[in-house]
Amino acid sequence: MPNDDVILAVDAVHATYNHAITALHGVSFEIRRGQILALLGANGAGKTTTLKAVSNLLPAERGQVNAGTIRYDGSDVSRRQPGDLVRAGLVQVLEGRHCFKSLTVEENLVAGGIGRGGRRAEINGDLERIYGYFPRLKEKRRTLSGLTSGGEQQIAAIGRALMSRPRLLVLDEPSMGLAPLIVQDIFQTLRKLNRETGLSILVAEQNSAVALRYADHATVLENGVSVLSGAATELRQREDVRAFYLGQQASPAVKPAHLHAVA
Ligand SMILES: Nc1ncnc2c1ncn2[C@@H]1O[C@H](COP(=O)(O)OP(=O)(O)OP(=O)(O)O)[C@@H](O)[C@H]1O
Ligand SMILES: [Mg+2]
Repeated sequence: MPNDDVILAVDAVHATYNHAITALHGVSFEIRRGQILALLGANGAGKTTTLKAVSNLLPAERGQVNAGTIRYDGSDVSRRQPGDLVRAGLVQVLEGRHCFKSLTVEENLVAGGIGRGGRRAEINGDLERIYGYFPRLKEKRRTLSGLTSGGEQQIAAIGRALMSRPRLLVLDEPSMGLAPLIVQDIFQTLRKLNRETGLSILVAEQNSAVALRYADHATVLENGVSVLSGAATELRQREDVRAFYLGQQASPAVKPAHLHAVA
């Protein structure tokens, strides 16, 4: 029986590219409604592949899920088109903050609302709500996105995703290439949205320090396998986890044996 409290259930997923390159071989985790889950791991661990599998975007990259299941709101994502998943509230901000650079910030946001099939009055209401969370976007609303800073492009990409009225927002490394203060600001705002609206969030991050500060739960990927899951507060306190999996200090010579269990 699917658990109604769970918005996303990823179970023993294996995935390959070009029928040859194995990217994932055993990824499992669950997100409860209203939770923020951080997916952590080093370069090449499989974070992006996992997120693309969740939105059924792998076929567009000559990739596929070969085993395991992914259920969004109880339904198997492999049977649904990516656009259908977006309309059902599973909305992704891809790696690299894609904006239409020759459109203004506001036009980028409106594009997100039109994609959802929203009416003009609804779109205007959503715009104001998003400007409330990201005042910087309001200041830059008339500026071409291509002329805004990296941080502004990232929040414009998040704002555009919010215009689709997500219930599960998926973000791929929102911190990438941004200054620490901007990263903190973005995570604080995501946390606020989560608290005030109940939005569930799945965020892949190499920056585990910031992700663990704002997430409820975290899952660590290592070479395409989920090796550890737990409450963010617990993982944050464990020096051994930080040292071995998250590369924040010199790795111990031997992987701590007690860290293998996946909760
Ligand atoms: N389009 C692709 N075609 C073939 N192999 C790919 C493709 N995308 C990713 N891979 C491989 O799959 C594995 C997982 O990559 P993935 O991009 O999911 O990792 P990641 O955790 O997101 O890494 P990063 O932190 O660098 O973004 C890597 O070995 C990578 O080389
Ligand atoms: Mg990636």
